[in-house]
Amino acid sequence: MAKTKKITVLIFGKVILSGEHSVVYGEPALVAAVDKKMRITLEQAAQFELSSQTEDKLGLVKYALEKSGMKPEKVRVTIRSEIPSGMGTSAAVCAGVIKAAYEYQKRTLDKDKWFQLTWECEKKAHWNSSGVDPAAVIYGGLLWYVRGREMKHLAIPTTYSLVLVDSGTPLESTGEMVSGLAKRSINPSIKEKIVEIGGVTRKIRQKLELGADIRELINENGLLLEEVGLVGNKGQEIGRRLRKMGYGVKITGAGGVKEGSGRLMVVGANLEAIKDRGYQAFEVSIGGV
Ligand code: PMV
Repeated sequence: MAKTKKITVLIFGKVILSGEHSVVYGEPALVAAVDKKMRITLEQAAQFELSSQTEDKLGLVKYALEKSGMKPEKVRVTIRSEIPSGMGTSAAVCAGVIKAAYEYQKRTLDKDKWFQLTWECEKKAHWNSSGVDPAAVIYGGLLWYVRGREMKHLAIPTTYSLVLVDSGTPLESTGEMVSGLAKRSINPSIKEKIVEIGGVTRKIRQKLELGADIRELINENGLLLEEVGLVGNKGQEIGRRLRKMGYGVKITGAGGVKEGSGRLMVVGANLEAIKDRGYQAFEVSIGGV
């Protein structure tokens, strides 16, 4: 009996260190791949099937297959993920299905084409995606990313530990958060703060390259994100408490105002001390040799 075709690919999640939202407006972002994986398997089947633990990704999976020249027919797609929500799930689904579909058809796919296809796919999920998430999950490492202009791997001398604290799942989608800010950005003072976040991101890069403390700049970034209306009361309150403990805190990703704001990224922190306060948290690290 002929062996059924089966392809498996692994994709890593990401954390945005600085520059979420402002990256949509052409400012730089710092983003890093993290050790949280998604496994995507494509195999021959009698009809199209999707088995996935992540929230509803059917539309995205079908779109990614079509983008890769495959009809969503006679194939089973299985997605197993340990990527926490808000840490690159949509980009990982797009990137993983596209890579697996190319391999399934024995077609070659270079990284730049893979990135372009993944970005197009992610635009389906997020209105006006900057491409920062696709860049992180495809190119990996620690990246300096400027939409449509620059992408550079950074080598930094120190390992930074990032504690990710759950502030509750946002009720809003990334697209809703991005379009909400676009409306508010007509106000010049909001637009100014968006540009200011770009400036903070540049300073964070300098500190990272020196292996220096980034707590203060992360707080600057976090407070600017609050001021432009991306963080709800709950997220702001947790941020205040964690800053009092001497840590640097900001949202990472799109944020949320109605209820939770997703994960807060905390630097200079002690994971156990944070957990002892009753927060749900885990640690990832970036940089180092
Ligand atoms: O999907 P998230 O939560 O990782 O947010 C993506 C980052 C944004 O800057 C908010 C949107 C974008 O496309 O850059």
